[in-house]
Amino acid sequence: MEKKITIAIDGHSSCGKSTMAKDLARAIGYIYIDSGAMYRACTLFCMQQGLILADGTVDAAALESLMPQIEVSFRLNAATGRPDTYLNGKNVEADIRTMEVSSHVSPVAAIPFVRAAMTAQQQRMGADGGIVMDGRDIGTAVFPDAELKVFVTASDEIRATRRFDELKAKGENPVFAEVLANLRERDRIDSTRAVAPLRRADDAIVLDNSHITIDEQKQWLLDRFHERISTLTEQP
Ligand code: DC
Repeated sequence: MEKKITIAIDGHSSCGKSTMAKDLARAIGYIYIDSGAMYRACTLFCMQQGLILADGTVDAAALESLMPQIEVSFRLNAATGRPDTYLNGKNVEADIRTMEVSSHVSPVAAIPFVRAAMTAQQQRMGADGGIVMDGRDIGTAVFPDAELKVFVTASDEIRATRRFDELKAKGENPVFAEVLANLRERDRIDSTRAVAPLRRADDAIVLDNSHITIDEQKQWLLDRFHERISTLTEQP
């Protein structure tokens, strides 16, 4: 039987990583994990517990003591065919995708003990391979030995437009300038934090998807997967 590999897809905010990761996982029969959803669920927990302070910072001491109470999991949604995110047994898939969560998630994701807990869980989920995981530090920190690593990016304006359209389609009332500022600020915090900052792994293949369609991107990734599998099976 063909060996099941680990696939890491990292990149900037709102550049379509999840779409391509989900599509690939479905096409090749692998498990898909959205690691950003785990940080978003932790952020929602902080909001529910009043741990986001008035100046936008996080009450890290209180969060650390409550950390054992955070249980994030994924369950397949039969209607969409995709995994939904659960926080302590409750489906929070829609709640974690709001602008409010987006605006608080980067400071939460920069906290070392939050990263340690999420990274350990991600490594357990991917221990047997056969996984496509997307995020910011999957190829650098979570699975540095992943057989296929992709780093995705696109221009700021194009990414903000995609995010803006997504929020509108969900019935939110986004302001374009705010969406653009939010993604730039998230990229800044994600790239400059001390622990596992967003950066391209040296052995990652770069994809700038500013000017390609979703179908072209899907095919590109599938080609990279088959290429990688064939080099692995050729090895003695
Ligand atoms: O992919 P996303 O936009 O849903 O991710 C939400 C936030 O979580 C993002 O701003 C940074 C953080 N994140 C992270 O620090 N490490 C990951 N592996 C995935 C996401």
